[in-house]
Amino acid sequence: MHHPFLNTNIFYLRRLEKEDLESNYFQWLNDQNITKWMRHGIFPNSYESMKNFYDSQAMSKTDVVFAIVLKEQDRHIGNIGLHSINYVFRSAEIGIIIGETDCWGKGYAAAAISLLSEHCFSRLNMNRLAAGAVDKNIGSIRAFEKAGFSREGISRQAYFCEGQYHDCVNLSLLHSEWLGKDHGSI
Ligand SMILES: CC(C)(COP(=O)(O)OP(=O)(O)OC[C@H]1O[C@@H](n2cnc3c(N)ncnc32)[C@H](O)[C@@H]1OP(=O)(O)O)[C@@H](O)C(=O)NCCC(=O)NCCS
Repeated sequence: MHHPFLNTNIFYLRRLEKEDLESNYFQWLNDQNITKWMRHGIFPNSYESMKNFYDSQAMSKTDVVFAIVLKEQDRHIGNIGLHSINYVFRSAEIGIIIGETDCWGKGYAAAAISLLSEHCFSRLNMNRLAAGAVDKNIGSIRAFEKAGFSREGISRQAYFCEGQYHDCVNLSLLHSEWLGKDHGSI
């Protein structure tokens, strides 16, 4: 294990590191199957844009990105990010990508969202976590719901993917809803 920060028996979260930019992570963002329902995948990925993203989050107090790493083989399978952290409103947004497609459908996204949410509520003193997913991104919506998030509305035609406009499903989880519940762990 390399710099583990938050742990389950199966995977850990650690800070994204510069070396990760040259791993499979680069190609995840070029894969149209992976980025189909995301804001990525519109232009070819470049080392420059990844480095800018990495540098800005590395210095940021409002955004932090974690690598999701399987303990077996120390395999980096995806990233989960905490974004737009607001220390007055005590809120933040979560974004996630499982880039290794053979790892889809194994509960990793739901468990990573759950693990990060727990940290947000129990250590960062957050009150509200939010997320958004294209209405067709059933896996993402389900993963957030499994981790305890509820649908709270839609942003109409917020995305253009697969040749048409799609609504964004907005989800959120409040600290009061989190307490005493068992969410999405594996
Ligand atoms: C969306 C994504 C994060 C889901 O990750 P995952 O690890 O496969 O999700 P989980 O295994 O935790 O699955 C959560 C639930 O969704 C279901 N699910 C996952 N993918 C699904 C799909 N394509 N269609 C229908 N259901 C799906 C799972 O079966 C599970 O539900 P269940 O426990 O009731 O069976 C992953 O597919 C991914 O990274 N996709 C590309 C990037 C992306 O879309 N990111 C999200 C942007 S908002």
